[in-house]
This record gives sequence, structure tokens and C-alpha cells, in this order.
Amino acid sequence: MKEVLTNPTAGYYMNRDVFGQTGDFITSPEISQMFGELIAVWLVNEWTKCGRPTPFQLAELGPGRGTLMADILRVFSKFKIAESDFSVSLVEVSPYLGQVQEKHLCSSQSQEATELPKDSLHYKQSISLYGSPIRWYNHISDLPRTFTLFLAHEFFDALPIHKLVKVDQGWREVLIDLNREDFTLRYVLSRDRTPACLYRMNNEIRNELEVSPQSLVITQAMASRIHRDGGIGLVIDYGHEGDKTDTFRGFKNHKLHDPLVDPGTADLTADVDFAAVKWAATHPSAVEGWKANLTYGTVDQKDFLTRLGINLRLDQLLASCRDETVARDLKSAHRMLTDPVEMGSKFKFLALYPPVMEKILERYPPPGFF
Ligand SMILES: C[S@@+](CC[C@H](N)C(=O)[O-])C[C@H]1O[C@@H](n2cnc3c(N)ncnc32)[C@H](O)[C@@H]1O
Repeated sequence: MKEVLTNPTAGYYMNRDVFGQTGDFITSPEISQMFGELIAVWLVNEWTKCGRPTPFQLAELGPGRGTLMADILRVFSKFKIAESDFSVSLVEVSPYLGQVQEKHLCSSQSQEATELPKDSLHYKQSISLYGSPIRWYNHISDLPRTFTLFLAHEFFDALPIHKLVKVDQGWREVLIDLNREDFTLRYVLSRDRTPACLYRMNNEIRNELEVSPQSLVITQAMASRIHRDGGIGLVIDYGHEGDKTDTFRGFKNHKLHDPLVDPGTADLTADVDFAAVKWAATHPSAVEGWKANLTYGTVDQKDFLTRLGINLRLDQLLASCRDETVARDLKSAHRMLTDPVEMGSKFKFLALYPPVMEKILERYPPPGFF
């Protein structure tokens, strides 16, 4: 999965725009500005609860075309958050998508790695349309240590999984093998236990499951920064609470696609195991004798957006809209984002806070989650 999606030369994400009508799938920020605007308002509200620490970092993992970040920066400027009060950090593995993000978000041409100091941890930097510094990183662990608002929208589902199955002899891993008769790929079971089998919880009751060690490592990196340096995390994705078994699939031209056919030409994805993400987000602080981070959610996208005021925002946009086609598109975007049979129930929101926020959050719980 890692090779197929992010191989430097042939990886699915590495050299093309995969989003929208002409791509393979569409994401919520690409459907309507309302999505990013409401997330921006949520971020400003929660940052305010933390005492508006400056300078802070706004970090997005897997920003795609940069549409969500563009909507957030526009709202931040409306709230008159000074450009010198924060910097933008994008964790993006695809150089092609990095260019698309730059076109979308920046006014001037970026400085590439060759012009940056040798020891810099980012590979590109520029200035956003609103004047804040914007930098690109390969890994979350390279980000500067400071108070950070983390966002991950449809990021964790793109990280590789291992598939485990319980058979009479115990746990085995599903591997991918080359069928030498017709040179097609096929699933096979490992003969013995593989190291990935250790990733299952001891009290696991499912006979089949997917584990994503990379998701847990990235969640812990985000969680330990929030714990030590302050910050908030908002993870949005399709997923489950540790109860689903077989969700690995491909998408091509907006249709399901067999992941083993023509690898590299289709998106590969698996539902996020939010129970595992929450576990990683609240450990290892207990080991260090500190109080654990706090998590809220998951809640369905429909509930989060409705509580944040998407109906009101739709009405506002419709009131200033003179074009019937645009009005129809706005209503249809609202339906796609919130209807339970579209994206309303499939997508979940999870928030992450440091333990020092406990008392404040008891009094002022995070909007959208209640
Ligand atoms: C499904 S897209 C989501 C894009 C965007 N967040 C949206 O919702 O429109 C996944 C994004 O994560 C990036 N990505 C995938 N694997 C990554 C990794 N290991 N490290 C950093 N970025 C990664 C992809 O290049 C892409 O930008």
C-alpha cells in the first residue's frame, strides 16, 4: 500500500491530481467552502479557549490540493488574526501535490530545497496569500516544536495497513503474492506469525482485522507534541470504533476498484480504526507519569457540521446568491456533506487536547461534539 501510493517515481499520489470530477474521488473541502469555513471557526474558538497563544503553528497532514487550508486562511484573515501570529506547516509526501498547494495558497514563488540552508527540516517555503510563512515537510517529526493546531482530513485512511486473520493455528497475516502462471497478484496467508501479528490487542474479539502501525506512530507524534508544547488535534476521516474487519479497497474514476489490479492507477484506502487512534493519542503519557491527553468523539460529520451552523451558513450564502445554478450547487453540496447516506454518517470527527485543558473543557466543551 505504501509503495503503490507513495513510491517516489510511480506512486499514485506522486505525480498527478487525483481529486474531483476528472480524478478518482472527491473530498469534503473540494465539495464546498462551507466545510473549511466551519472548521476554521472551530479552530479560532478553541485557540481562543487556550488563551490565544502566539506565535502558533497551523499544521495540516496530507493537504491534497490545499483547498481546506485556503478556506481556513481566508477565515483567519476575516477574524483579523495577524499573519505574524502564526505559520503554516504542511506535511506532504507528494512533490506534485506540493506544487498544487503552492499555487493555491501562495502569492510568490517558493524557495526550494536547493536554496534553503542545508540543515533545514522543511523542503520548501513560501509566503501565504495573507502573509504568513508557509513551509512543507516530509514527516510530522520534522515540524517545529511550538503550540500547534493539527488537522488531518482524509490522511490516516491513506496510510498502509496490515491485514490479520485468526486461523486454527493462531494469527496469520494476509500477504500479496505474484501468481507465476498469469503474473497477476493474489492474496495468500503467511505460513507463520509475522511481526505485524503483534499489533493486535490482547483482548481482540474479531477474527479478522486491519492494523496500521504508521497511523499509530504519527498519532503518537502529534499527541506527544500536544502534550508537551500545547495544541489541539482535529482528525476527520471515515472509520470505525475498532469493530470492522475488512475495509481495504481501491477507488478509480469514482468507482470501487480491485486493489490488486493495475496497482498505482487507483487510490488505495482503508477505514481508520479510531479506537486504535484514540489509544495512541492517550499513551504513552501515562507511562511518563503525566495525565493522559483528552479525546472527544468520534461524532458524525452531519452532527459536527450542523452543530457548528452549516444550515445558517447555507442560508447566508443563498441570500447573497443571484445565480440559480450556483444556488442549486450550494444546496446539493450541503446535502452531500450532511446527508447520512452521503458523507454525513460515514465521516467522523475526533478532537485531541492536552490534559491541562481539562477544567476549561468541562466548563466549555468543544463545540460540535455535544
Ligand atoms: C486522500 S488525500 C486527502 C487530501 C486532503 N486532505 C483532502 O481532504 O482533500 C491524502 C493526502 O495525503 C498525502 N499523503 C499520503 N501519504 C502520506 C504520507 N505518508 N505522508 C505525508 N502525506 C501523505 C497525499 O499526497 C494527499 O495529499
